[in-house]
Amino acid sequence: MGSVESKGMPEKLFFAFVCLIIAAAANADIKSRPWGKVDEHAVDLYTLDNGHGLRAEISTYGATVVSLHTKDAAGNMGDIVLGFNTLEEYREKSPYFGCVVGRYGNRIAFGSFVLNGLTYKLPINNEPADIPCSLHGGTAGFDRKVWTATPKETTEGPSLELVLYSADGDMGYPGNLRVKVVYTLTHQNALRVEYSAVCDQDTPINLTQHSYFNLKGEGNGDILSHNMRLYASNFTPVNAGLIPTGRIEKVAGLPFDFLTPRKIGERIESASQQIQYGAGYDHNYVLDKKYGEFGKVADVTESTTGRRMEVLSTEPGVQFYSGNFLDGKLVGKSGKAYVRRGGLCLETQHYPDSPNKPEFPSTILPKAKVYRSKTEFRFSTFN
Ligand code: GLA
Repeated sequence: MGSVESKGMPEKLFFAFVCLIIAAAANADIKSRPWGKVDEHAVDLYTLDNGHGLRAEISTYGATVVSLHTKDAAGNMGDIVLGFNTLEEYREKSPYFGCVVGRYGNRIAFGSFVLNGLTYKLPINNEPADIPCSLHGGTAGFDRKVWTATPKETTEGPSLELVLYSADGDMGYPGNLRVKVVYTLTHQNALRVEYSAVCDQDTPINLTQHSYFNLKGEGNGDILSHNMRLYASNFTPVNAGLIPTGRIEKVAGLPFDFLTPRKIGERIESASQQIQYGAGYDHNYVLDKKYGEFGKVADVTESTTGRRMEVLSTEPGVQFYSGNFLDGKLVGKSGKAYVRRGGLCLETQHYPDSPNKPEFPSTILPKAKVYRSKTEFRFSTFN
């Protein structure tokens, strides 16, 4: 019989720890219910609960996190992501609330790139300052597809595996691609997102998670008083079309510097041309950790609720989007209007427009090689 090694942990403590994990696993739960149809495809809504402070609803439409309940410092659960109650609202008007974005998250200039000597044309679905681009995988990206789900109780926590086939030519991209996203609500109260993919041709790929967080609770005003630290000394400045110029610039001395925790609202109205282009923050940061290393991206805290979110990822960049395009017209899950900057996105990713920027880390997945990426949103509280 094999023996369990406690690595120097006193035996009693180790036993208590094992009991805690078993107890937590016993309370963990996964449920599902039908949530409408897209053409002939049935859509389901899964509820995952880790049994001690983290609960998520995830839809097979767009692999979308529809709700995410976490505890505040007083122990009350609250939903901290923006979203809608119905599939119809997601289909009609969602600005990428909670979905998985692909095949290429973020912008590709003029919806065009050259790969292996061939020019590929993508649907144009975004035109900041009248400069056209393909945004978030095109008009019917992965956010608008119905994924196939398999729920799993794992030792790490309840999880949901979602699989999607994107055929050769889907939204203009080359190759038949199989994508898998696994969401796990860990017993340490993290939402873990693990991505993998494989393709039968070389293809660009850049998958990300597009949740809009508001640690005060969805619909409870803007995120300007959230404090944030970003582990990034550099960012990729953009042109008026929000396409990186190709330069990598230091954040020091600019409103982009979040190396020490700062209120998001403190410099968001700055006259800086970069801020003007984004109508606030809508920029890719170059993370300080080594590319591929699973390391810190951001820490976000909100003082009235005592909620803290830490983001870690293997990705080399993160798009910090301060919800500038929200304008109070969308009404969310609990009937409250989503005001301008009512949520913030931290989209871990490769840099925008990389297929046209040979100086950036490559987003080309070679044929038959496996793409892997992992991001974790860790939740805790403080007083
Ligand atoms: C991303 C983009 C933003 C905006 C949102 C969706 O974060 O960078 O400019 O398009 O998605 O509204």
